[in-house]
Amino acid sequence: MASMHLPHLLADASFCAVIGHPIAHSKSPFIHRQFAEQVGLALQYERIDVHPDELPSALETLRAAGCRGLNVTLPHKAAVAALAVHPSARVAATGAANTLWWDDGLHADNTDGRGLVRDLTRWGCELAGRKVLMLGAGGAAAGVIPDLLAAGIAGLWIWNRTAARAAALCARFSPEKAQILAPVDDSGMPQAMDLVINATSAGVVGEVAVLPAGALAPQTACYDMFYADGATPFLSHCQALGARQCRDGLGMLVEQAAVSFERWHGYRPDTAPVLAALSARQ
Ligand code: ATR
Repeated sequence: MASMHLPHLLADASFCAVIGHPIAHSKSPFIHRQFAEQVGLALQYERIDVHPDELPSALETLRAAGCRGLNVTLPHKAAVAALAVHPSARVAATGAANTLWWDDGLHADNTDGRGLVRDLTRWGCELAGRKVLMLGAGGAAAGVIPDLLAAGIAGLWIWNRTAARAAALCARFSPEKAQILAPVDDSGMPQAMDLVINATSAGVVGEVAVLPAGALAPQTACYDMFYADGATPFLSHCQALGARQCRDGLGMLVEQAAVSFERWHGYRPDTAPVLAALSARQ
């Protein structure tokens, strides 16, 4: 196993990074550098490949190197949540973290849910009082559930290929009194959801998580938490079923990064031009 490669650090720049395995594809450096330019911050933001076996030692090396903030992507989101000395309430609830920093020990937060809700809002997708179907019951789904519930949705139904995982995920969260949080099983769910969110990793290998019958109506908003050059397999599937409003997760990526950036540097960046620049690069 190769050990982590720490880049040459620039003097007078704030050092931040994203870790994952693999990591070469990450768009986080582009996004954070654009944010830094907006506010005139000298930022060195690096991609660093960290093998799962070396995660604890890599975190220690980064802390000792003065790393101000660290983003975390697959496959480390659950492992870093477990290593945090100060997990946020969201991390404690979801068991996953994507944003780390140090002061009196390792702090961990999960900004994915805020990123999703902000991007849905930017898209004009109303959440209060709406019926939402989530496809998938892994870490990606768990990470956004508290923020969806907090946004005042009427109900969240969870469908998963492995039904027991959907039931277990629902059992982990407490909805508000009037909200429904239920797995989709034989007793079904109401027809024609307002919003369907793909949180499965099926598209990563070019597959599609099949939608439960009756979920889609022409007005249903379809959101894929993943993104691709062109339509994702999930969004192509929804379009073939007649969906007219579709959006991929590129905006969520930018919005979750903005929450991390604000946490570390104290500035709330303007996400719109960064999303436009990223979309133009796709
Ligand atoms: P992550 O942390 O990215 O969510 P995960 O915990 O491995 O990763 O969860 C992946 C999710 O995608 C699961 O809900 C998985 O369904 P299972 O629980 O049945 O494994 C779902 N998934 C992956 N490939 C899929 C496919 N081809 N069709 C449907 N669902 C799929």
